[in-house]
Formats: sequence, C-alpha cells, structure tokens
Amino acid sequence: MVNVIVFAENGKSGWLVLVSLLIFVSLTLLLVQCIFFDFMISPASSSPSLPFVSSAHAYSIACACTCAQRRILRRIRLGDFKRKRTGTGDFTLSTRSNATNETDDLAESILKNGKITKIAHQLIRHCVREDDVVVDLTCGRGTDTLFFLELVKDAGLIISIDKQQKALDITKKRIREEFCAHISDEAERKKIEEKVYFVRDCHSKAIEGIVEGLMQRRGRKIGACMMNLGYLTGKDTDKSIVTTTRTTLQALDKASRLLRVGGLITICCYRGHEGGQEETDAVLDFASKFPPENFTVTKIDVLNRSGGPILISCYRQR
Ligand SMILES: C[S@@+](CC[C@H](N)C(=O)[O-])C[C@H]1O[C@@H](n2cnc3c(N)ncnc32)[C@H](O)[C@@H]1O
Repeated sequence: MVNVIVFAENGKSGWLVLVSLLIFVSLTLLLVQCIFFDFMISPASSSPSLPFVSSAHAYSIACACTCAQRRILRRIRLGDFKRKRTGTGDFTLSTRSNATNETDDLAESILKNGKITKIAHQLIRHCVREDDVVVDLTCGRGTDTLFFLELVKDAGLIISIDKQQKALDITKKRIREEFCAHISDEAERKKIEEKVYFVRDCHSKAIEGIVEGLMQRRGRKIGACMMNLGYLTGKDTDKSIVTTTRTTLQALDKASRLLRVGGLITICCYRGHEGGQEETDAVLDFASKFPPENFTVTKIDVLNRSGGPILISCYRQR
C-alpha cells in the first residue's frame, strides 16, 4: 500500500495504479461472493441468480482471482506500470530525464538497450550530488552537459569543455531551446544558463589550468567527469577534429587526480573511425592501471555488436 501511495504521489501512471486497485477490490468482492455462495448458500448445487456458482466454478474463479490479485500487487510493488511500449514494440521504462528522455533503470539499459551513452548516464546519476562540480570533457552536441544540468542544482557547477566553438554554440542553443523551453521566468532561465561554465580549449589543458584552479579556489574536488571520445556528429561538422590518444590520456590522468571519493569518470570510446581503436586500447590500458585500492575500473562492451563503442568507468572509492 505504501508503495502504491508513493507511486501515485510521484504522479507516474497514478491512474493506472488506481484502476488496478479498483480491479483488485472487484476481484476481492468476486472472491468473497464465490466463497459465500458456494460454501454457505448453495453447498451442493448452483445458485439460480449466479449461474456460474457451482463448486467447481467457484473454486476456479477463486483461484483465478487470487492469482490475478497477486500479479497486480507484484506489478505495483515493482513499479511495472511505469512501462510503456516503444515504437519498436520493445519495452522501456518511463523517463525521469526531461532533457535526454531516457530510462532511469540501469538494468533495463544494459539488458535491453545496450547503449553505452545511456548506461554512462545511469552510472553518473548514481554518483553525482546536487552541489557537485562536474566536468564534461567533450561537450560536443551537449547531451551530457544537459544531463548534468538535471543533476546539479544551484550550489553546483558544470564545466563544459570542447576544442570547437561550434560544439559550445550548439550546446548553448540546446540549453536555451530544449532545457529551458518550459521556463518563462527570464531570471530563472539565466540562473540555469549560468550554471554551465563553457571552456573552449583542449581538455588536457583546460583541466590542468581552469578546472584545477577553480577547484583549488573552491577547496573542492570533482564529483564526476564524462568523456565521449571521437568527433562532433551531425551534418556540416568537421570530422577531422577528433580526440587523440595523448591528450585524452592527459585529461583522464588529471581528472582522476581531481576526483572526490565517491566520484566517477565515464569514458565512451568509439572504435570505428581512424585512430579510434588505438585510442580505445590506450584508455583501457591506462585505466586498468589505476590503483585498485582507490579505484574500481569497469568496462562495458556489448559483445554481439562487434566494433561498437565501449564504456569505461572509473569509480573512486578511497
Ligand atoms: C563525440 S563528441 C562528444 C559528444 C558529447 N559528449 C555529447 O553529449 O553530445 C566529441 C567532441 O570532442 C571534441 N574534442 C575533440 N578533441 C578534443 C580535445 N582535445 N579537447 C576538447 N574537446 C575535444 C570534439 O570537438 C567533439 O565535439
């Protein structure tokens, strides 16, 4: 019952829960009716007003009722009503994210979806605190920055870095037009936009300079870093501007030193483009040498999508 109330209060599919509860109550009434008529009123024969009430019927209806009731309770407990059908006919969970419109269930992401960028978001969601300073080391089209905006509240800060002005511009536009679309108050909008500090530079330099300086001044450590390697996707983009092994490793090394305990770095590595496999191997090799007493380093690779991207996560536990 508590689950149901919490669920309904969350406003997610509350009406479905109510309908289920009504069905549950009706089933209970039917069950009581069956038992009552079968065992108390018409023990050996059928009732003229209730044609189905013979012993055998009453028993099977009672069984069906309890079975259905158990299912309803189980679905409510598991929050299964959050499920909805996607266009492909597969199931996903309802979204908790306004900006990225993605599932909030890690197991679902790994098992059914396998999209490493989404899995990275689930892991990040688990580690970031509302007042954290977080860093998007490859801003690109801003999907990760927008995601950070959902997690980090007023006391926190997002630093978003990219070599290309075009990437920063696309992201600023998305914040204005997508993330702030529903906010009419100009001051509120501005406050959100100012939560992101954009840096146009190579991430290896920016993290050594601006980011480290900022953290020292604030006396803080970084809560999370995301790195999505490769080039800026989309039409009319310069695909020759691509992350490179040397600067990627430098940025990763520095980020790992600035990370707070309980913080996380995720790196999405792509292998399809020129230099991608070499960069992926180098990141794997580098991250696997992080001291195990301080870090847990994990790799997620969807094995039957050969050559697809992989996710490396570095969690600082001590
Ligand atoms: C795959 S995109 C990032 C996608 C992005 N995270 C998103 O959510 O849309 C890679 C980005 O890294 C940027 N990049 C490449 N080398 C870089 C470097 N050395 N320092 C900073 N950014 C770099 C590219 O300009 C590109 O925009």
